[in-house]
Amino acid sequence: MPDPAPPNPPRHIAVIMDGNGRWAQARGLPRLEGHRAGAESVRRIVELCSEFKIPHLTLYAFSTENWNRPRAEVEALMLLLERFLKERAKDLHKHKIRLHAIGQLERLPAGPAGELRRVMEATRLHAAGTLTLALSYGSRDEITAAVRRIAEEAVRGELRPEEITEDTVATHLQTAGLPEPDLLIRTSGEMRLSNFMLWQLSYAELYVTPCLWPDFGREEFMLALEEYGRRKRRFGGV
Ligand code: IPE
Ligand code: IPE
Ligand code: MG
Repeated sequence: MPDPAPPNPPRHIAVIMDGNGRWAQARGLPRLEGHRAGAESVRRIVELCSEFKIPHLTLYAFSTENWNRPRAEVEALMLLLERFLKERAKDLHKHKIRLHAIGQLERLPAGPAGELRRVMEATRLHAAGTLTLALSYGSRDEITAAVRRIAEEAVRGELRPEEITEDTVATHLQTAGLPEPDLLIRTSGEMRLSNFMLWQLSYAELYVTPCLWPDFGREEFMLALEEYGRRKRRFGGV
């Protein structure tokens, strides 16, 4: 029996998928096993969003800061990303989901970068929803790049400084065209944003669960949706 959808579901869920390493450590396994299990949670949450008709899902998969991890872990994560894209493209086709990516994609190794381009191209006409992967993503870097482009347009005389609005900034971010996330989920209990979507999350509802990302499944997803349904979103009003 499928779960009934809670009323007023979010249109866009963003997730800081954290705790893979601790999940593995708790089992006496290498960190890589946690990342492998985490990829399975990604597959599950894509299915759940499709089932509950939540059109936009953004997943923080690799941060600009994560490049500072040991080389072997970074390489393993990149291989896992490539394999994930190869194996899961069919799910995106099945659910008519368009793959999108944000972050410094030019820094990704050729293998995953090529696979990413291929799947984005192959799914670009799907319109039931979007899956956005944040890869080599840092919000400060994204905002800095946007500011640079706006300044360049101003210098070229295409834009006057007094014409710059919040909308100008938003449309120069890599998330241009996506609605802002309504709900941010962070797993593994950490109460921080870790340089994720600082602009876009301005009015998102924050939900932090102690559950480690590889353990995040239907039950946890439902709890997050139920909690979101109980929130009063005031946006500064009364
Ligand atoms: C999240 O899990 C995955 C990435 C950041 C790539 P972690 O690898 O950060 O797991 P913990 O936080 O060390 O447990
Ligand atoms: C945030 O997790 C980045 C991703 C989930 C990709 P981290 O584990 O890198 O963040 P910190 O170190 O806890 O801030
Ligand atoms: Mg972590």
